[in-house]
Amino acid sequence: MVESWVNSAERIGADLHLELSGSGGRRAALIRALREAVRGGRLAPGSRLPPYRSLAADLGIARNTVADAYAELVAEGWLTARQGSGTRVAERAAPSGAAPARVPKKSPARARGPRHDLQQGTPDASSFPRAAWLASYRRAVQRAPNEAFGPGDPAGRVELREALAGYLARVRGVRTEPGRIVICSGFAHALRLLFPQVLRGPLAVEAYGLGFHRDLLAAASVRTVPLPLDEDGAQVGELGRERAVLLTPAHQFPTGGPLHPTRRAAVIDWARARDGVILEDDYDGEFRYDRKPVGAVQGLDPERVVHIGSVSKSLSPALRLGWMVLPERYVDPVLAVKGEREAWAGTLDQLTLADFIVSGAYDRHVRRMRQRYRARRDRLVAALAERAPHIEVTGIAAGLHAVLRLPPGTEQSAVKAAVWQGIALDGLDEFRHPGTDMSAPDGLVVGYATPAEHAYAAALDALCGVLPPG
Ligand SMILES: Cc1ncc(COP(=O)(O)O)c(C=O)c1O
Repeated sequence: MVESWVNSAERIGADLHLELSGSGGRRAALIRALREAVRGGRLAPGSRLPPYRSLAADLGIARNTVADAYAELVAEGWLTARQGSGTRVAERAAPSGAAPARVPKKSPARARGPRHDLQQGTPDASSFPRAAWLASYRRAVQRAPNEAFGPGDPAGRVELREALAGYLARVRGVRTEPGRIVICSGFAHALRLLFPQVLRGPLAVEAYGLGFHRDLLAAASVRTVPLPLDEDGAQVGELGRERAVLLTPAHQFPTGGPLHPTRRAAVIDWARARDGVILEDDYDGEFRYDRKPVGAVQGLDPERVVHIGSVSKSLSPALRLGWMVLPERYVDPVLAVKGEREAWAGTLDQLTLADFIVSGAYDRHVRRMRQRYRARRDRLVAALAERAPHIEVTGIAAGLHAVLRLPPGTEQSAVKAAVWQGIALDGLDEFRHPGTDMSAPDGLVVGYATPAEHAYAAALDALCGVLPPG
């Protein structure tokens, strides 16, 4: 048996494992192997086969044997040979009896998708700064020391931790140094690293939050205890016997207000008195539209707060890059959970983000997106003022979404009407902790950052069309 990995991209564009086995000699074995590769989809229609000489050398067989095998497969219709473009897999290389290539089926819902995507959670994917990211990637790869291509450090690349320490201090008022930062793949990963090995439940959480995070905690056997909310944010005076609390202090998710300064001070006092810890989810802290800066709670007491952020709102949730700024006592336990091999955030992505921050591209991108999202928010407010003045818009001083307060008892029908009109959005009830006994106001959570720029006007128009009358 002769085996070879034919793996030069310029020859066929992809790796191809050919196994020459069975009876009838090398030529017959090669014909069988190539036929099998085409039939099984490993050699796609149109892909170029290696020149005779290269394949012969890779397989350790004579050049003529390869030439004969190609000629046979051309005659059978599996391959085509054209002067100047070499030998390729025929566009319809499936003569009688060949199994059709399997195309994965999309679910009908995914295939259709919503016509107007106003679901909170994602930035405008069409605005990803491709050119600037590529420039940072090039520089990062060119400048990376050789050791960067070896196994990673569980804490993450020091270049990124240094860049973040400076950036978070400057922009969010975080007090830290690179040794307290652990790179992770985002907020959800941070929760998985903390619970249940480093911290244990019960965990106090805001009465409204992301169900996905509650589910993730439940899967780690962490009981979550809802804290009621009012116009000043989470009522931290209600904290009971828990030793940990998860808050979104800059912009309560999803209702939208910042945690009042007296509550910020109160929760720090609580943590000091009870030897407790505050988990600060700073998911969209960069996007504030009013002039009042809301710094990180972490700045009040770095030893009592785990500050968690990611690029999921500022750049893209697809990058899976985030960070935890830890009190000193948690650094080693978190690293121990993470393990020796950095398995979550790729080194080159980390180096790229470090360059992106240090070169100023991150600031420029965030500033551009802040203006863009602010303009969208203003358009949403103006459209509602004109077409549905009875609907109050709240939570608009920051972030990428707003909450429309609806007349009592109308949320469910508004959500149904939206689905019917092909609008993706959520009702406020979707975010309510099941254990909360707060009287739940009716509302819609509208992600105004999600659509591409050209699709926004139509999405707003459709939204106004499904709101309950005044
Ligand atoms: C409340 C909240 N926290 C955190 C995040 C970020 O999650 P991740 O970093 O896991 O993408 C999101 C979603 O983007 C969010 O809505």
